[in-house]
Amino acid sequence: MAERYDGKVVQITGAASGFGALAAQRFAHEGARLALSDVNAEALAETADNLRAAGAEVWEAPLDVSDASAVAAHLAEIGAQFGRLDVAINNAGVGHDMAPLHRLDEAEFDRMMAVNARGVFLGMKHQLPLMLANGGGAILNVASAAGLVGAGYLSAYAASKHAVVGLTRAAADEVARKGIRVNALCPSFASTPLFDEMADQVAARHGASRDEAYTRIAARVPMGRVARPEEVVQAMLWICDAENSFMTGQAISIDGGLTAV
Ligand code: NAI
Repeated sequence: MAERYDGKVVQITGAASGFGALAAQRFAHEGARLALSDVNAEALAETADNLRAAGAEVWEAPLDVSDASAVAAHLAEIGAQFGRLDVAINNAGVGHDMAPLHRLDEAEFDRMMAVNARGVFLGMKHQLPLMLANGGGAILNVASAAGLVGAGYLSAYAASKHAVVGLTRAAADEVARKGIRVNALCPSFASTPLFDEMADQVAARHGASRDEAYTRIAARVPMGRVARPEEVVQAMLWICDAENSFMTGQAISIDGGLTAV
């Protein structure tokens, strides 16, 4: 049976862990040819080797998404290796220690903006020419619920994720008539290594265990739990699917109702 991503070239950043690693697996399962990157070269190589062992076509290269010349070279290499780019998932991201804004170091603000916002800008800057040459494509930028609503004690992270939503909407407007759709995904709490770091901080603050922190955080979500990474990744597959042809410029929440109330 034909799979919906058969032969499609799919680029995923931050592919060594969490949503990115699972997305690589799921896109490969649906027939995609993968171009993967991550700043963590060792974990990236392991992810890519496992996918190849399972029969996937994978090209991978270490990449810091905040490095302009490295991103330009990476996308040029994707063009050379595959001759096209159909889907790009700008997923790499970092968080910071929870702290009130007046105690947050400006270096942390700069780091959030460099990786989360500049990283998405640079990605799209070099992905769009490849997609314009194809005559179409889909870009999905991983923002956050913190890109839509205030997230106390995560102000620099929230600022960077609001920037991702803004970049998404502007880019979508620019290329809407060129067959390229650009959307943002806004997950809330999902059990990945990045979230576990936050849960551990909540735990430390309350003298609780990580499990107790999960329960405390989950209590804020109308569905009463955090997301499974699969629930986020299935949305990536749906949003980027060519059959989902009239959705662009949207910030899609996958958050158990968190931002609805
Ligand atoms: P994760 O920490 O498991 O994975 C993030 C990956 O990005 C790691 O492999 C890391 O090495 C990589 N990375 C970090 N800095 C990088 C850089 N400068 N260049 C290239 N790669 C870099 O985290 P997770 O949860 O899978 O996060 C993926 C995305 O989802 C991030 O953008 C995050 O902000 C976002 N997100 C996560 C939520 C959650 O609850 N897990 C909620 C909302 C958004």
